[in-house]
Amino acid sequence: MLMEEALEYLARPLRRVAIPDVPIPTPAVLEQFVLPNEEKAGFNTFVSVGCAACHNGPYVGGGMFQKAGLVNPWPDTTDVGREAVTHQPADRMVFKVPSLRNVERTGPYFHDGKVASLDSALTTMAHAQLGKQLTPEQIQQITAWLKTLTGDIPAAYITPPTGS
Ligand code: HEC
Repeated sequence: MLMEEALEYLARPLRRVAIPDVPIPTPAVLEQFVLPNEEKAGFNTFVSVGCAACHNGPYVGGGMFQKAGLVNPWPDTTDVGREAVTHQPADRMVFKVPSLRNVERTGPYFHDGKVASLDSALTTMAHAQLGKQLTPEQIQQITAWLKTLTGDIPAAYITPPTGS
Protein backbone atom coordinates (compact mmCIF):
# COMPACT_ATOMS: atom_id res chain seq x y z
CA MET A 1 0.00 0.00 0.00
CA LEU A 2 1.12 3.53 0.67
CA MET A 3 4.53 2.82 2.16
CA GLU A 4 5.31 0.43 -0.69
CA GLU A 5 4.38 3.06 -3.24
CA ALA A 6 6.67 5.53 -1.53
CA LEU A 7 9.49 3.03 -1.54
CA GLU A 8 8.95 2.18 -5.17
CA TYR A 9 9.02 5.87 -6.04
CA LEU A 10 12.17 6.41 -4.09
CA ALA A 11 13.89 3.34 -5.45
CA ARG A 12 13.33 4.26 -9.09
CA PRO A 13 15.96 7.01 -9.48
CA LEU A 14 18.32 5.05 -7.26
CA ARG A 15 18.01 2.04 -9.50
CA ARG A 16 18.85 4.17 -12.51
CA VAL A 17 22.12 5.34 -11.01
CA ALA A 18 22.96 1.99 -9.44
CA ILE A 19 26.32 0.82 -10.69
CA PRO A 20 27.44 -2.80 -10.79
CA ASP A 21 29.01 -3.94 -7.52
CA VAL A 22 26.99 -1.46 -5.54
CA PRO A 23 23.97 -3.27 -4.16
CA ILE A 24 20.57 -1.68 -4.69
CA PRO A 25 19.26 -0.70 -1.26
CA THR A 26 16.62 -3.08 0.03
CA PRO A 27 13.20 -1.72 1.05
CA ALA A 28 14.19 -2.22 4.70
CA VAL A 29 17.18 0.07 4.22
CA LEU A 30 15.25 2.59 2.15
CA GLU A 31 12.46 2.73 4.66
CA GLN A 32 14.74 4.44 7.14
CA PHE A 33 15.01 7.37 4.75
CA VAL A 34 11.45 7.68 3.56
CA LEU A 35 9.79 9.31 6.54
CA PRO A 36 11.18 10.89 9.67
CA ASN A 37 10.53 8.79 12.76
CA GLU A 38 7.43 10.45 14.12
CA GLU A 39 5.64 10.26 10.78
CA LYS A 40 6.68 6.64 10.38
CA ALA A 41 5.46 5.78 13.87
CA GLY A 42 2.20 7.53 12.99
CA PHE A 43 1.79 5.45 9.85
CA ASN A 44 2.44 2.27 11.82
CA THR A 45 -0.06 3.27 14.50
CA PHE A 46 -2.65 4.18 11.86
CA VAL A 47 -2.33 0.66 10.48
CA SER A 48 -2.01 -1.18 13.80
CA VAL A 49 -5.02 0.43 15.53
CA GLY A 50 -7.18 -0.36 12.49
CA CYS A 51 -7.73 2.97 10.66
CA ALA A 52 -6.43 1.46 7.43
CA ALA A 53 -9.29 -1.05 7.37
CA CYS A 54 -11.41 1.78 5.95
CA HIS A 55 -8.94 4.50 4.97
CA ASN A 56 -6.74 2.68 2.48
CA GLY A 57 -5.58 2.64 -1.14
CA PRO A 58 -3.97 5.46 -3.09
CA TYR A 59 -6.39 8.02 -1.61
CA VAL A 60 -6.17 6.67 1.94
CA GLY A 61 -9.95 6.37 1.82
CA GLY A 62 -12.57 7.23 -0.77
CA GLY A 63 -13.06 3.60 -1.71
CA MET A 64 -16.08 2.46 0.28
CA PHE A 65 -19.11 3.34 2.37
CA GLN A 66 -19.08 2.56 6.08
CA LYS A 67 -21.26 3.15 9.08
CA ALA A 68 -20.32 6.20 11.14
CA GLY A 69 -20.50 4.79 14.67
CA LEU A 70 -19.64 1.21 13.84
CA VAL A 71 -18.60 0.30 17.41
CA ASN A 72 -19.90 3.20 19.53
CA PRO A 73 -22.88 5.34 18.49
CA TRP A 74 -22.18 8.46 16.43
CA PRO A 75 -22.78 11.60 18.54
CA ASP A 76 -25.32 13.14 16.16
CA THR A 77 -27.76 11.10 14.09
CA THR A 78 -29.77 13.96 12.58
CA ASP A 79 -28.43 13.10 9.16
CA VAL A 80 -29.04 9.38 8.58
CA GLY A 81 -26.57 9.16 5.69
CA ARG A 82 -27.24 6.85 2.75
CA GLU A 83 -30.53 5.66 4.20
CA ALA A 84 -32.02 9.01 3.15
CA VAL A 85 -31.25 8.05 -0.46
CA THR A 86 -31.70 4.27 -0.54
CA HIS A 87 -34.50 3.96 2.08
CA GLN A 88 -32.76 0.80 3.33
CA PRO A 89 -32.54 0.57 7.14
CA ALA A 90 -29.14 -1.14 6.69
CA ASP A 91 -27.84 2.14 5.24
CA ARG A 92 -28.61 4.14 8.37
CA MET A 93 -25.60 6.33 9.30
CA VAL A 94 -23.61 4.94 6.38
CA PHE A 95 -21.32 7.52 4.78
CA LYS A 96 -18.55 7.55 2.26
CA VAL A 97 -15.16 6.94 3.86
CA PRO A 98 -13.40 10.17 2.93
CA SER A 99 -9.93 10.31 1.43
CA LEU A 100 -7.41 11.57 3.95
CA ARG A 101 -5.22 13.20 1.34
CA ASN A 102 -4.93 16.89 2.27
CA VAL A 103 -6.95 16.16 5.42
CA GLU A 104 -4.89 18.77 7.27
CA ARG A 105 -6.73 21.35 5.16
CA THR A 106 -10.20 19.85 4.77
CA GLY A 107 -11.70 20.70 8.15
CA PRO A 108 -14.17 21.17 9.69
CA TYR A 109 -14.57 17.40 9.70
CA PHE A 110 -17.22 14.76 9.07
CA HIS A 111 -20.43 14.90 7.05
CA ASP A 112 -21.85 17.65 9.22
CA GLY A 113 -18.64 19.64 9.67
CA LYS A 114 -19.17 19.59 13.42
CA VAL A 115 -15.62 18.80 14.45
CA ALA A 116 -13.19 21.65 14.01
CA SER A 117 -9.83 20.14 14.89
CA LEU A 118 -8.02 17.20 13.41
CA ASP A 119 -7.10 16.03 16.93
CA SER A 120 -10.75 15.70 17.93
CA ALA A 121 -11.58 14.06 14.59
CA LEU A 122 -9.00 11.35 15.34
CA THR A 123 -10.33 10.87 18.89
CA THR A 124 -13.90 10.56 17.59
CA MET A 125 -12.88 8.10 14.87
CA ALA A 126 -10.92 5.85 17.23
CA HIS A 127 -13.81 5.74 19.71
CA ALA A 128 -16.75 5.48 17.31
CA GLN A 129 -15.22 3.24 14.65
CA LEU A 130 -12.81 1.10 16.63
CA GLY A 131 -13.83 1.37 20.29
CA LYS A 132 -10.33 2.54 21.12
CA GLN A 133 -8.83 5.45 22.97
CA LEU A 134 -5.73 6.97 21.42
CA THR A 135 -2.98 8.29 23.68
CA PRO A 136 -1.91 11.93 23.17
CA GLU A 137 1.32 10.55 21.74
CA GLN A 138 -0.53 8.38 19.23
CA ILE A 139 -2.65 11.35 18.18
CA GLN A 140 0.48 13.42 17.69
CA GLN A 141 2.15 10.70 15.64
CA ILE A 142 -0.88 9.97 13.46
CA THR A 143 -1.32 13.70 12.88
CA ALA A 144 2.33 13.99 11.85
CA TRP A 145 1.82 11.16 9.37
CA LEU A 146 -1.44 12.63 8.03
CA LYS A 147 0.38 15.89 7.37
CA THR A 148 2.70 14.05 4.97
CA LEU A 149 -0.43 13.57 2.81
CA THR A 150 -0.73 17.31 2.25
CA GLY A 151 0.01 18.39 -1.29
CA ASP A 152 -1.01 20.87 -3.94
CA ILE A 153 -4.33 20.28 -5.60
CA PRO A 154 -3.82 19.86 -9.37
CA ALA A 155 -4.68 23.15 -11.11
CA ALA A 156 -7.04 21.45 -13.57
CA TYR A 157 -9.12 20.22 -10.67
CA ILE A 158 -9.82 23.65 -9.21
CA THR A 159 -9.83 25.83 -12.33
CA PRO A 160 -13.32 27.35 -12.68
CA PRO A 161 -15.15 26.19 -15.82
CA THR A 162 -14.94 28.67 -18.70
CA GLY A 163 -18.65 28.41 -19.46
CA SER A 164 -18.18 27.65 -23.17
C1 HEC B 1 -15.07 1.33 9.98
C2 HEC B 1 -14.48 2.29 9.06
C3 HEC B 1 -13.55 3.36 9.59
C4 HEC B 1 -12.47 3.23 10.43
C5 HEC B 1 -11.93 1.96 11.06
C6 HEC B 1 -11.91 4.55 10.57
N1 HEC B 1 -12.61 5.46 9.84
FE1 HEC B 1 -12.20 7.45 9.66
N2 HEC B 1 -13.95 7.70 8.63
C7 HEC B 1 -14.85 6.69 8.31
C8 HEC B 1 -16.08 7.29 7.81
C9 HEC B 1 -17.32 6.54 7.33
C10 HEC B 1 -15.88 8.68 7.86
C11 HEC B 1 -16.90 9.76 7.47
C12 HEC B 1 -17.78 10.05 8.66
C13 HEC B 1 -18.67 11.25 8.43
O1 HEC B 1 -18.64 11.84 7.35
O2 HEC B 1 -19.40 11.61 9.34
C14 HEC B 1 -14.52 8.90 8.36
C15 HEC B 1 -13.95 10.16 8.54
C16 HEC B 1 -12.67 10.38 9.01
C17 HEC B 1 -12.03 11.67 9.13
C18 HEC B 1 -12.66 13.01 8.73
C19 HEC B 1 -12.23 13.37 7.32
C20 HEC B 1 -12.96 14.58 6.76
O3 HEC B 1 -12.44 15.18 5.81
O4 HEC B 1 -14.04 14.93 7.27
C21 HEC B 1 -10.78 11.47 9.64
C22 HEC B 1 -9.73 12.53 9.92
C23 HEC B 1 -10.64 10.05 9.86
N3 HEC B 1 -11.79 9.42 9.47
C24 HEC B 1 -9.52 9.44 10.40
C25 HEC B 1 -9.52 8.13 10.90
C26 HEC B 1 -8.50 7.59 11.76
C27 HEC B 1 -7.26 8.32 12.23
C28 HEC B 1 -8.90 6.32 12.06
C29 HEC B 1 -8.24 5.36 13.03
C30 HEC B 1 -8.14 5.84 14.41
C31 HEC B 1 -10.13 6.06 11.35
N4 HEC B 1 -10.48 7.19 10.67
C32 HEC B 1 -10.81 4.86 11.36
C33 HEC B 1 -14.63 5.33 8.44
C34 HEC B 1 -13.64 4.78 9.24
